[in-house]
Amino acid sequence: MISRVHRPGTPPSLGCGEAGRPVATATACPENFFGILGLLMHDNIESHLVEKRVFKPPRDFSRKARIKSLGQYRRMYRESIRQPAKFWAREASELVWRPRWKKVLEWKAPFAKWFVGGKLNISENCLDRHLSGPRRNKAAIIWEGEPGDRRTLTYQQLHHEVCRFANVLKRNNIRNGDRVIIYLPNIPEAAIAMLACARIGAVHSVVFGGFSSDSIRDRIIDSGAIALVTADGAYRRGGIVPLKRNVDDALRDGTSIKRVIVFRRAGNDIHMEEGRDVWWHRELEYVDANCRATPLDSEHPLYLLYTSGSTGKPKGILHTTGGYLVGVYSTMKYIFDIRDEDIFWCTADVGWVTGHSYIVYGPLANGATVVMYEGAPNWPEPDRFWKIIEEYRVNILYTAPTAIRAFIRWGDEWVAKHDLSSLRLLGTVGEPINPEAWMWYHKNIGGSRCPIVDTWWQTETGTILITPSPGAIPTKPGSATLPFFGVDPAVVDENGREVGPNIGGKLIIRRPWPAMLRTIYGDKARYRQQYWSEFKGNYLTGDGARRDEDGYFWIVGRIDDVLNVAGHRLGTSEIESALVSHPRVAEAAVVPRPDELKGQGVVAFVTLKTGVNATRDLKEELRDHVGVHIGRIAKPDEVRFAEALPKTRSGKIMRRLLKEIASGAKVTGDTTTLEDFSVLGKLAESEE
Ligand code: WT7
Repeated sequence: MISRVHRPGTPPSLGCGEAGRPVATATACPENFFGILGLLMHDNIESHLVEKRVFKPPRDFSRKARIKSLGQYRRMYRESIRQPAKFWAREASELVWRPRWKKVLEWKAPFAKWFVGGKLNISENCLDRHLSGPRRNKAAIIWEGEPGDRRTLTYQQLHHEVCRFANVLKRNNIRNGDRVIIYLPNIPEAAIAMLACARIGAVHSVVFGGFSSDSIRDRIIDSGAIALVTADGAYRRGGIVPLKRNVDDALRDGTSIKRVIVFRRAGNDIHMEEGRDVWWHRELEYVDANCRATPLDSEHPLYLLYTSGSTGKPKGILHTTGGYLVGVYSTMKYIFDIRDEDIFWCTADVGWVTGHSYIVYGPLANGATVVMYEGAPNWPEPDRFWKIIEEYRVNILYTAPTAIRAFIRWGDEWVAKHDLSSLRLLGTVGEPINPEAWMWYHKNIGGSRCPIVDTWWQTETGTILITPSPGAIPTKPGSATLPFFGVDPAVVDENGREVGPNIGGKLIIRRPWPAMLRTIYGDKARYRQQYWSEFKGNYLTGDGARRDEDGYFWIVGRIDDVLNVAGHRLGTSEIESALVSHPRVAEAAVVPRPDELKGQGVVAFVTLKTGVNATRDLKEELRDHVGVHIGRIAKPDEVRFAEALPKTRSGKIMRRLLKEIASGAKVTGDTTTLEDFSVLGKLAESEE
């Protein structure tokens, strides 16, 4: 069980309430406490990892923040739950509506309509709204390409480009309601194309540039898209990804796509299909920059974003206009506490929901300045991120635990070379962050001075739902802490009953929120079945979680990944965090394999820090380490060292594949989302 005291290397506590310092250290936690619980609560997910470090928001940060204290957070939260219509109407009225809504929410579970009767345009809110004041000449996007090229677009320039491209769309017969696939690198044109679609009411569906032609084709078929926006190629680790060729392959046997608009990015040779393909820059010659933003119904579809789900065909998550805008605007404002003078960098790709909500719509709705970077974090060297932060004086960094673990692995010297003193706030998203990775981020990147917002959410939720408010909520490494305004989450057992403190169960959300998905495109039945049927009227997240004695949420991983060892249900994230807390371990993934005695045994795949030798003794040491920190029940039956773990393009570990490898089976099923195929072969060889 991890109940910690300060170790060498961590500064000793300077007393209660010291800004940015731990205020609580180890408290006694009787070793048999969870053992007893385990016997009583065998249907619930057991929780064994106890993290007791608490970090208060730095006083300086709180003083300037929008939400300055826990008391203020609680008052606002209470209001948002008791009078949601009042709360959300106030947020929405900071935006431009033509005309304003008549009713804030119409909820006929599981179908929600927000800001009913209102009309608006999200591109007007992200662009035109800022043109009448000093923000007109402020940088909207500061972009850096992987080869080192740079561009800055002010709000006025971005508006100009969006209007012109919206006219290009119109010229190519793309109309209100049509679906448009966007398959581009992480370049400003991706944001321009999204905003141009939104300006005329076309529905965009961004396909991440790392996806293959099969994925593009599936998404075209499901969405019935009539146009596709792409580039000749994308830079990645010095090479060129042939985007246009992938598109040609996807379209080979005929699809609903009538027009392909191609942006010239990498200059590689491509084929242009006569009558179907046109160049972005040529099209611009025929249009002007006058394009009125079409007022759209609040529930007008804004975008489709496909998520793979664990099995089966990809789901087109549908987000609509009004509620989504209010949601991203408000979360950006309060959670990142965004200021006009800030430079905000979300390192995601626009191809993910994180990019949609926190590179494009959230920041621009707030008139913020965002940094956008095209390439890999370790190109040409592992310090590219730190270079960017130093050079642009980035104030807020929002990245993923998987990236943080990679930085830890590459070594602290890459960080130490750079001045990161401009940073004032850090964020993470995508997976549970292991407490050790959190501590490293806090110390090495945040200089022990920046609050960390560990933001829990999903493609489906559209916006962050569980997160600290950085000026108000004390943080605990590994916990996403408390719900955002208007969000009513709970941890329940199989029967839908809320469980007590520190007992694991399923995470549900008990009421609608503005940016929630409205349906799975073309499949209402699947929407109802997947998210709303298990606990009627409640949204099922698919994640396992527990709430601690302070009401803090700890996500323990996807329910599908939960292990069942001799009747004990264990979340993967806790065992993985225990492994990552070992000084030689960079990353770990834990999966079950069939076990005659215990039902399931525990197999751990482990990558080591650069320079560490993989020895048999170390394997034993790691098994014992888990035994000591969590308990014997969680001790891996087998530890396998791997050079790298199989991950999706968005950085999530593909435990399904590891499960197959662990049980000696051949890897089957869809591997198209795998980031690096060579990892699989190497893993199969990773046995003793
Ligand atoms: C799943 C959603 C939301 C944008 C990126 C991922 C996991 C996400 C956290 C977090 C623990 C997290 C959950 C969730 N997840 N953020 N802060 N702590 N887990 O979007 O691909 O739809 O994945 O990512 O399991 O359900 P997504």
